[in-house]
Amino acid sequence: GDVAVLVPAAGAGVRLGPGAPKALRPLAGEPLLVHAVRRVAAAPSVHTIVVAAPAADVESVRALLAPVAPVTVVPGGAERQASVAAALAAVPAGPEIVLVHDAARALTPPELVESVAAAIRDGRDAVIPVLPVVDTVKEVDATERVLGTVDRSALRAVQTPQGFRRPVLTAAHRAAGDPLTDDAGLVEKQGVAVFCVPGSELALKITRPFDLALAEHLLTTGA
Ligand code: C5P
Repeated sequence: GDVAVLVPAAGAGVRLGPGAPKALRPLAGEPLLVHAVRRVAAAPSVHTIVVAAPAADVESVRALLAPVAPVTVVPGGAERQASVAAALAAVPAGPEIVLVHDAARALTPPELVESVAAAIRDGRDAVIPVLPVVDTVKEVDATERVLGTVDRSALRAVQTPQGFRRPVLTAAHRAAGDPLTDDAGLVEKQGVAVFCVPGSELALKITRPFDLALAEHLLTTGA
């Protein structure tokens, strides 16, 4: 394998309601992070997995994942970007492709990990999985007055894993300013071309209680 996968899993998950850190919330009896890591580890190109866990949970996350796959667990940071930077710093020499994958996208199929990695291997510097936007999208002002209708044919909803040639991601994090919610955004700021590949509906981000219910249903029907 020539791929390292970074899994930021240090978020609180406030939008899911009160409880454990999001990545440790149960889905069909197992934490979201376990589902996510199991699928990443099933992708044949994956050589290294580094998880950024809440600082207080590093030891318990190590114990949780030991039976699932060989992983390195590091303490995450206050922002997602800091968690990714901490995980990136723990990647050993070797893998030249680095993927960043949210623990919250627990049902992401291994095939999506492979297709993102393959696009980097084929020569892209940065690759993101995307889906078309199905809803009509409006731009509004602070009073919720509609300013206009956005042309949705030119829009894409972005998932993870996001893939990068390793030096591209390292340079983007070194130069990073204000925290962003995705790594491709950092790379774009460096002037690097980012390309899209088809995403997967199974790679949905489990953010709200509705998503958890949907994910439970998908698991019982074979995801
Ligand atoms: O909150 P959000 O859904 O955007 O989080 C996306 C991913 O980033 C989640 O997997 C979450 O655990 C992770 N995260 C992190 N460190 C933070 C905040 C979020 O690793 N400080």
